Amino acid sequence: METVLSGIRSTGNLHLGNYFGALRNFIKMQDDASCYFFIADYHSLTTHPDPSILGGNVRNILSEYLAAGLSPEKSTIYVQSDVPEVAELYLLLNMHAYIGELERTASFKDKVRKQSENVNAGLLTYPVLMAADILMHRANKVPVGKDQEQHLEMTRKYARRFNTIYGVDYFPEPEAYNFGTELVKVPGLDGTGKMGKSEGNGIFLIDSDKDISKKVMRAVTDAGPTEPNSPVSEPVQNIFTIMDIVSAPDTVKFFRGRYADCTIRYGDLKKQLAADIIAVVSPIRERIMDIRADEAYLHKVVKMGEERARENASKTVREVREIMGIKKI
Ligand code: TYM
Repeated sequence: METVLSGIRSTGNLHLGNYFGALRNFIKMQDDASCYFFIADYHSLTTHPDPSILGGNVRNILSEYLAAGLSPEKSTIYVQSDVPEVAELYLLLNMHAYIGELERTASFKDKVRKQSENVNAGLLTYPVLMAADILMHRANKVPVGKDQEQHLEMTRKYARRFNTIYGVDYFPEPEAYNFGTELVKVPGLDGTGKMGKSEGNGIFLIDSDKDISKKVMRAVTDAGPTEPNSPVSEPVQNIFTIMDIVSAPDTVKFFRGRYADCTIRYGDLKKQLAADIIAVVSPIRERIMDIRADEAYLHKVVKMGEERARENASKTVREVREIMGIKKI
């Protein structure tokens, strides 16, 4: 049976990018594979969150996982920092991770640009910690959005390098995965770029119907097509891209047709998009509220996940120590 693993950082609430890029795939995969899904709270420390909000963020993501349909019976759901073995594997993998390749990582270069006052070693070695998460459970498939593609390439490189250096066939080379299609990048509705927690352009799973409508109706567009079949500008293409993901194929075809023959009304396009997003989000939102209030249940879920994850993790660390020659005297 294949092993599937993925995680999301505990840096706020989940948005449509997290849902369609990652979480929706987690849910689809839990019936057919051995699944590990976790909350990456160590990774979130690279940006120095206020200690008083970190625990609450973990609880939010856990509630959102469960509300969206992750099942603690089918999957191992855990918090990264509950599995200290990951820190040891991270240390061991760091010995074979070269500074040059880490410095060239796109996400690191991006952080250096945006967060120049806090370029810490945790940011530099972020992909190594991610590789430790994945290789810890010897995962084959990692459901993630497009922005994580390079990190997965690095994980494969570290797996290959470890196997070659020690002459073993120990770590599988995991693939970044999206159900049957290419990896997804959900754009923002503010004209450019991707939807992100720190971009201020998210539509969140906890947003009310009213907030979703407001955000969609404010989406950036343009003056409209002036000739038949004219190229679609980036902001309008972003609306179509989200529509491709959330709406029925006939709906998308209809509005694309209206664009092509210059009869499109952006107000109608946005109203339809808002309705289709609300249809996905509102049942999840209602469950989030109930689950978040049930402390005893959340506690039980993470306890169960911790036990299962650690059982597997301690076996991997024991075997890796042995392969690397670390022996008890
Ligand atoms: P994070 O928390 O930034 O994002 C979590 C997941 O959401 C996806 N995602 C998107 N997908 C499509 N469009 C978007 N606009 C969008 N925004 C976010 C991300 O691709 C990701 O799948 N490094 C990871 C967390 C992590 C991890 C791991 C993932 C730590 N260890 C091991 C997989 C395996 C991250 O930053 O996710």
